[in-house]
Amino acid sequence: MLSDSHYQKLDSAYQRLTDLADKAKRLPEEARKVVQAALSELSLIHLEMQTLLEEFSHHNDELAASRAALEDERRRYQELFEFAPDGYLVTDKNGIILEANSAAIDLLQIDRQLIAGKPLSSFVVDEEKEAYHRKLKELQKGKIKKTVDWQISLKPWKSEPFPASFTAGVVCNTEGKVTGLRWLFSDISWRKKMEEEILKTDKLESISLLAGGIAHDFNNLLANLMGHISLARLWKDNPEKVAQKLDLSEKVIVRAKELLQQLFQFSKKDYPHCKVFALSKIIYNILDLSCDNSQIKYFCNLPADLLPLEADEAQISQVIQNIIINAKQAMPDGGIITITAENIFTEAMENYFLPLAKRDYLRISISDTGIGIPEELKMKIFDPFFTTKEEGTGLGLATSYFLIKKNGGYITVDSKPGVGTIFYLYLPAWRQKNEHIEKKEEDFTN
Ligand SMILES: Nc1ncnc2c1ncn2[C@@H]1O[C@H](COP(=O)(O)OP(=O)(O)O)[C@@H](O)[C@H]1O
Ligand SMILES: [Mg+2]
Repeated sequence: MLSDSHYQKLDSAYQRLTDLADKAKRLPEEARKVVQAALSELSLIHLEMQTLLEEFSHHNDELAASRAALEDERRRYQELFEFAPDGYLVTDKNGIILEANSAAIDLLQIDRQLIAGKPLSSFVVDEEKEAYHRKLKELQKGKIKKTVDWQISLKPWKSEPFPASFTAGVVCNTEGKVTGLRWLFSDISWRKKMEEEILKTDKLESISLLAGGIAHDFNNLLANLMGHISLARLWKDNPEKVAQKLDLSEKVIVRAKELLQQLFQFSKKDYPHCKVFALSKIIYNILDLSCDNSQIKYFCNLPADLLPLEADEAQISQVIQNIIINAKQAMPDGGIITITAENIFTEAMENYFLPLAKRDYLRISISDTGIGIPEELKMKIFDPFFTTKEEGTGLGLATSYFLIKKNGGYITVDSKPGVGTIFYLYLPAWRQKNEHIEKKEEDFTN
């Protein structure tokens, strides 16, 4: 807005112009004409100035209004930041806290005056500091721009640690260089508890499924056995028939034994006997036995630098056989089974988001071009006794899952109905200590 003094100055300029016009009246004719022409020019200029001044005043009002709107906006954002339900931190690129909202202060239980200048790492539990620094480096280097639902435990100043979920993002300058970081985080204790509860319920469901399946199968076998014994008793005078019934009884007992053997795989007592061996050895043994059906083609690609496995050879062999049997059954009209494997070094493991300890692994992929698994059944195929086959036991994948877990690995599946299925086995690999160091040094010099 324009001040009164601007208008006063314009008024006094106008006054001086009228005074000059009066004086000009007393001048001789010639001079008076010249001066009057100059004076009318000046009064035109005065008029223009007045208009300009008014426009200027109008712009000034607009400027003041938009400045007030901006200030309102800033205040609104500040309030949003301040009263957001989740913790919000602004740090420099080294993770030093610059700003924190009320929720962050509540969650970290520290006075507002004390939080600025503290490294965020001072609130991370000791066991996870290394993981935090790794993530920070990735963000600093711009390797990742954002991380969502990254979970890490925080240690508030005055209370017990809690699991937190972070969404972190980088702030860049106009040249694209990282200048700071923003961290949004929340306490996920409740979510963790729910997950544990669900896991417990899942376990109970699996046990009840297992118990139900065993009861059903054993009941059938016992009924069968009873039938054969009753018939043998009935035909006690016909040794040939009795021998036949005894043979059948023996077969039932052998089946019961097989079932028990499968079940033993689930029992904790059956520890894996780990040793170091080459995957190629068991794969080629299995393929020698499997190549009986000319309708099915096998492709196998095992790189020469594949690390050896550190696991129970017999158990891993059984798992691979189970998966190949399923693959063959999924391709009644023939197809292709492909087996490949690759090393996954410790450093790369975190990209796979698997519930596995930090170490080197082998990822074995076994794919088929069979019927595939519908999405809604994918969750069930590892359940004991789940089968879609008339003659199936539903124990192949359940046993495989348990055996892989017992050997410190993990199994996942990907499938498209009508296209095929691929099973991934992650199994502990073995690498000599100095080999590991050499590799690290190589990385470093690169
Ligand atoms: N390669 C595959 N292609 C399609 N379906 C599969 C495949 N492997 C497993 N399945 C599904 O998973 C179920 C469970 O497999 P499994 O535990 O080996 O039991 P079973 O073979 O006795 O049915 C199978 O019945 C089938 O529906
Ligand atoms: Mg099977």
